Amino acid sequence: MTTEDADREIAFRPGPGLLIDHSDDMTHFMLVYKFGLAEIGTKITILAEELAHRGRGNPIEHVSPRLKTTASITAKARRINCPMTVDDVRTRIRDIAGIRIVCSFVSDVYTVADMLTRQPDIKLLQTKDYIAQPKANGYRSLHLIVEIPVFLSERVVSVPVEVQLRTVAMDFWASLEHKIHYKYDPVVPGAVREELAAAAEDAARLDKRMERLHREIHGPRS
Ligand code: GTP
Ligand code: MG
Repeated sequence: MTTEDADREIAFRPGPGLLIDHSDDMTHFMLVYKFGLAEIGTKITILAEELAHRGRGNPIEHVSPRLKTTASITAKARRINCPMTVDDVRTRIRDIAGIRIVCSFVSDVYTVADMLTRQPDIKLLQTKDYIAQPKANGYRSLHLIVEIPVFLSERVVSVPVEVQLRTVAMDFWASLEHKIHYKYDPVVPGAVREELAAAAEDAARLDKRMERLHREIHGPRS
């Protein structure tokens, strides 16, 4: 066994359809996720442009797609005890393709989520509403796992995509919290945690206030 093989033994458990890093297998495996992301991306662009043309303003501030790296897929597989086989990874890791949609107001988050999930080719697999029920640390966002068909040359595959929807204020909070988390890894001091949770409440209040102000000026979005 060469050193490289030994490394693979550590990184990947043997099994049918084993995914091997640094090989064409992985590139091929990742391709459909890239396509799935492109399909969802197009749907969001269409929604944003059409809504902007309706004259009520575009509810989508910005969109950021991302594909998990091989390293991050491997790390997650280890964390959740998922064997590194094509079938296991495909069924158990459903956030390989992810897209974050940042909206102006909380109501826009739900409107955009509805518009997306009502489309007949999109299948909603899971909803986690951390806006209705924020996480203990204060995190807020609406997370959906959707499945979208990708038409390949000889077959159609259903690709899961994680869609995270949030407001600008929620996004501001989440990016700072993420940085703080990394800085203090593994333990964020209690006082910092409390202040972060309080800041999340402030952000939620600001969201409510801005939405009310917007409604007073423009009326509800049509
Ligand atoms: P992962 O295995 O990390 O994907 O978590 P999960 O399967 O329990 O899913 P969940 O819907 O809770 O979180 C998915 C993603 O949401 C994370 O990968 C982050 O991008 C984001 N997220 C969730 N919780 C937090 C949080 O407390 N802070 C920040 N900044 N982001 C979060
Ligand atoms: Mg994730």
